[in-house]
Amino acid sequence: MRIHNKHYKTVWFKGRVVYLLNQPALPFKFEIFQSRFYRETAKAISDMVVRGAPAIGATAGYATAQAALEFSGDSLEEFFEHMNKAGEFIKKARPTAVDLMHAVDRVISSLKDCTSVEECKEKAVQEAEAIANEYLEVCRKIGIYGNELIASGDKILTHCNAGALATVDYGTALAPIRAAHQAGKKIFVFVDETRPRLQGARLTAWELAQEGIEHAVIADNAAGYYMKNGEINLCIVGADRIAANGDVANKIGTYEKAVLAKENGIPFFVAAPITTFDFECPTGDKIPIEERSQDEVKMIFSARGPVEIANPNSPAKNPAFDVTPAKYITGYITEKGVIKSSEIKSLRK
Ligand code: MRU
Repeated sequence: MRIHNKHYKTVWFKGRVVYLLNQPALPFKFEIFQSRFYRETAKAISDMVVRGAPAIGATAGYATAQAALEFSGDSLEEFFEHMNKAGEFIKKARPTAVDLMHAVDRVISSLKDCTSVEECKEKAVQEAEAIANEYLEVCRKIGIYGNELIASGDKILTHCNAGALATVDYGTALAPIRAAHQAGKKIFVFVDETRPRLQGARLTAWELAQEGIEHAVIADNAAGYYMKNGEINLCIVGADRIAANGDVANKIGTYEKAVLAKENGIPFFVAAPITTFDFECPTGDKIPIEERSQDEVKMIFSARGPVEIANPNSPAKNPAFDVTPAKYITGYITEKGVIKSSEIKSLRK
């Protein structure tokens, strides 16, 4: 994405350092976060310095490469023991986005034929780079297939941020929107603010404004009003994990938007790479849902720092994701095309 006339990815790796666009600071401050050690990179994932399933996946791949580089010694047995421990540690950073688990497993299993620790280190970095680079191509394809679903004049609802910031670049749910805009279609995007962390109001709105795509931020509870009034005719969201039967875990609030879309006869699409499908997970009720700090609900983290907004003595609950049953989803926009839930099995290699 272009920021201050320069092209940036959300995450990149150089030497031993992982570089991340610091997302909690956006859109008010543009900062680059650096981490040199895998534990620090895993903490950046937990703290949501980087967030969004593919961005988390790419970062976790780099963290696994850092773990390889941090090993000293030349016993392969000890190296693999270290890598398996580091992998388990990185996987605990956030439980819902399955791209994270896939990236760690992919980097570690790519090392199985290496004959020395040095070779393993080199291969781990190459594999992590391959994961990050593949996301770029995959997101472009999601954009191409998704664009076919968008007509000029469409008014599209999106939830959370599934844009360039949630991937390595370009986005998943925002990929078809970018492609439609680039194709000259006149579109308007309703951006759910996405409490409690405001990924819509802060990040999606920032990305759309940079692209010159017409949009408005709406309160999370306003979508039903606009759907019922006929002002939204298409919904596109991202996903953190898609079960084998097509149930989708995505940012909290996605489920209610999908139910409202069905009630109002509005197509509801989920845009996601194949790495977000969990073929081992039969249904959505088996997807682990992250519970985050109460403070995210009881406070607003504004440009000027945290501000209390709830009664201080009341507890809060804060599930980060919900599960939308497959029956509410019109189709899945993937790099292999737009598919139905009954076709998910065919994606499994
Ligand atoms: O908690 P977050 O900000 O990591 O949640 C992000 C989402 O729910 C996105 O919609 C999802 O990861 C898809 S990102 C392309």
